[in-house]
Amino acid sequence: MAKYLWTRLGVATLVLFAASAMARAESRDALQTRAKQLFGVLPAEAPNPANPVTDAKVELGRLLYFDPRVSKGQEISCNSCHQLDKFGVDNEATSPGHKGQRGARNSPSVYNAAFHVAQFWDGRAADVEEQAKGPVLNPVEMAMPDPDHVLGVLRSIPGYAPLFAKAFPGEKDLINYDNFGRAVGAFERKLTTPSPFDAFLGGKLDALSDAEVAGLAKFIEVGCPTCHAGPTVGGLMFQKLGLVNPYETKDLGRYEVTKKESDKHFFKVPSLRNSAKTGPWFHDGSVRSLDEAIRLMAWHQLGKKLEPADIASIAAFLNSLTGKPDATYIAAPKPLPSGPKTPKPDPT
Ligand code: HEC
Ligand code: HEC
Repeated sequence: MAKYLWTRLGVATLVLFAASAMARAESRDALQTRAKQLFGVLPAEAPNPANPVTDAKVELGRLLYFDPRVSKGQEISCNSCHQLDKFGVDNEATSPGHKGQRGARNSPSVYNAAFHVAQFWDGRAADVEEQAKGPVLNPVEMAMPDPDHVLGVLRSIPGYAPLFAKAFPGEKDLINYDNFGRAVGAFERKLTTPSPFDAFLGGKLDALSDAEVAGLAKFIEVGCPTCHAGPTVGGLMFQKLGLVNPYETKDLGRYEVTKKESDKHFFKVPSLRNSAKTGPWFHDGSVRSLDEAIRLMAWHQLGKKLEPADIASIAAFLNSLTGKPDATYIAAPKPLPSGPKTPKPDPT
């Protein structure tokens, strides 16, 4: 009798166990379908018909990205603030540029940025090609006085001319400032970071842990994807910071570009790819922890007070968005040797 009972219990436990595993698999399946609609697998490249990515452009763009000689003091390259081995940021609230000066905004990651609707927190550059021409001339960043000085430096380094010729075949006056932007932009178009989340979206249902799956469900349930959607989990629109509950900031954001009253305190919704690694957070780098960023978002953007367990759960999901760039692609190139006419650094 006792034996019979135990067997019955054993079978019941087994059935229950199998049922819960099936329910779990089913809910993973349903969640994956839903997530595919909201997000989508990250493509390997962000194409631009006006600037097709070629190996020659990428090779040139990589050299320029890492070359500090296109800064006034010859100490700062794109990679100083957007370090490719640090998820494309420097983990500072604001970044030191020429003579250690700092701007008012946090350096966003260059990874996956080419997919965004526009560049910068306020969207003032249309694409990465246009964006790349900005920091070189920004007085608190690379501080070159004008494009001609930049081109003078590039022309004085003998190795650049053949690389520009290969990257822009058939063009006259190859070393020009637009081509600088195109080469750097082409390099950035393949700075992508596929992560376990992409494997999950692609059909590998066990690519995420139970905690990450629960976090994804919570992220969707709370309403985060109203703004953070698409393959980059953000980056596709501008939204008001403090949409539901006002947020204190002096930065007028998108208003600086459009001068429209209704754009005050609007910012580009950032991509959450690698966001677990790109702190400090928000446009001014004032938020010190990912948990705090999640808490503030729920309150100011959605009017919701999250329990610590929900915050931890969403953080687990955000961790699954931490991806890996191709190590060969991002390796620092051997710098081209300077020529006899290459200008000396100007520390003033
Ligand atoms: C001194 C630090 C510094 C240097 C050097 C620098 N940047 Fe930036 N970068 C920033 C900051 C700060 C922002 C955000 C500014 C804003 O939104 O107003 C930014 C924004 C960007 C963005 C926009 C990303 C997004 O999501 O909107 C890209 C792309 C970028 N930089 C690429 C580059 C490239 C390419 C170079 C070299 C040509 C470069 N940066 C040099 C600090 C720097
Ligand atoms: C109404 C639109 C909206 C909603 C909803 C929203 N966000 Fe945001 N999110 C933004 C904007 C805009 C920013 C940029 C904030 C800034 O500029 O300081 C941002 C920034 C963030 C950041 C910081 C990223 C960085 O690199 O600094 C994180 C993390 C984040 N959101 C997570 C979430 C989570 C989690 C949720 C759901 C609880 C959520 N967001 C809901 C619009 C939104």
